[in-house]
Order: sequence, then C-alpha cells, then structure tokens
Amino acid sequence: MSKQVRTRLAIFASGSGSNFEVIAKAIQSGKINAELCLLICDQPEAYVLKRAEASGIEARLLQPNQYLNKMTFEQAVLGVLKEMKIDLIILAGYMRIVGKTLLGAYPDRILNIHPSLLPFFPGKQAVLDAFAAGVKETGVTVHLVDQGIDTGPILSQKKVMVESGDTLTSLEEKVHKVEHSMYPYVIQTYIEKLQKEQVHS
Ligand code: GRF
Repeated sequence: MSKQVRTRLAIFASGSGSNFEVIAKAIQSGKINAELCLLICDQPEAYVLKRAEASGIEARLLQPNQYLNKMTFEQAVLGVLKEMKIDLIILAGYMRIVGKTLLGAYPDRILNIHPSLLPFFPGKQAVLDAFAAGVKETGVTVHLVDQGIDTGPILSQKKVMVESGDTLTSLEEKVHKVEHSMYPYVIQTYIEKLQKEQVHS
C-alpha cells in the first residue's frame, strides 16, 4: 500500500484565534492527522498572529484594502496557498465572505465554524443575535463553504442550551467551549473522508 501523504492545512482567521490554537494543539497531539502549514490573516492587529508566532507556524498577513478588488486580493491569497501546496482551508473566525476565486480553486475544500445552529442566526454576531432573540437553545455548526453567507452543506452541529442565568458573556464562553471540542474532531473526520475518496478514485 502506498504511503498516505499528510493533508496540508491553512487556517484563515481575523481575530483572537482560540480555534486556531486548539487546532494547532490537536495536530501536535495527533488528534488531527495533518500538517498545519500556514495562517492567513487579514487584520494586522489580530491576536491570532501572535499565537502563530508562538507556535512557530508561518503566517501571512494579506489585507484586502491593499488590492484593487476582491478578485485580485483572492488571487494573491491563492498564490500563497499554491506556493505552500495547501490541500484544505479551515476558516476559524475569518470575517470575510469567500469569493469565486478561492471557491473555484478549493471546491469542497473550505470548512467553516459558525456559532449558531444554522440556518438560524447566520452572519457576524450570531451569539448576540441568538441571545437577543431569547432562544432556549443555540449551538455550533461546522459546514462546507459555498458562495452564500453561512449557507454551505452542514458537516456537524452541536447544541448549547441557554439557561435562565446566562449572560451574553457566559453564553459566548459555552459556545466557544463546544467549538473547541468539536472543530478538531470534525476536521479529522473530513480529512479521513477525503483520503478514502482519494484511495478509491
Ligand atoms: C468563533 O466563535 C467562530 O465560530 C466564529 O468566529 C469566532 C472565532 O473565535 N466564526 P476565535 O478567534 O477562534 O477565538
């Protein structure tokens, strides 16, 4: 049997990067069988850049406002992804809508984590929206990325109950905790699925 080449991951993030760190650790400990090759970040002040530096993972800061339009920005991103031979893109708090250029180059190869039970509460402030709506349960969704906003095929969902004493902060903490236990597992499961498909193709 031929030796399986390890899947090469790039994480895209714009903010704190707690999910980035959890994924990096899951790779280190062997829970995810992949290589974390690259962080793509679009915000110069994002704390995730510090986390990447601390864990020795190559980071590239690419800022859309330094490009003519979305297409040229994504072409630049794509250039880096190709240079690094990236197989799979993991969005982890990446606050941009992925455009045609990247979607076309990575069909069914871009995963996102969203802090609600999609299709409920898509968009940038899902936990706040769910809390403000007074729902009894919300949750986390991992899905494939398509051209819509948080609309791609769902890979996995987990519920988070909203209890009477919850504040927005406590709910955010509960949602994050579920994200951290869930994302590495779903990423590994998806990698295994892709590898099986490769073997059979
Ligand atoms: C997470 O809640 C994720 O679901 C959403 O953005 C947040 C990123 O958090 N897409 P962090 O930067 O990983 O801490």
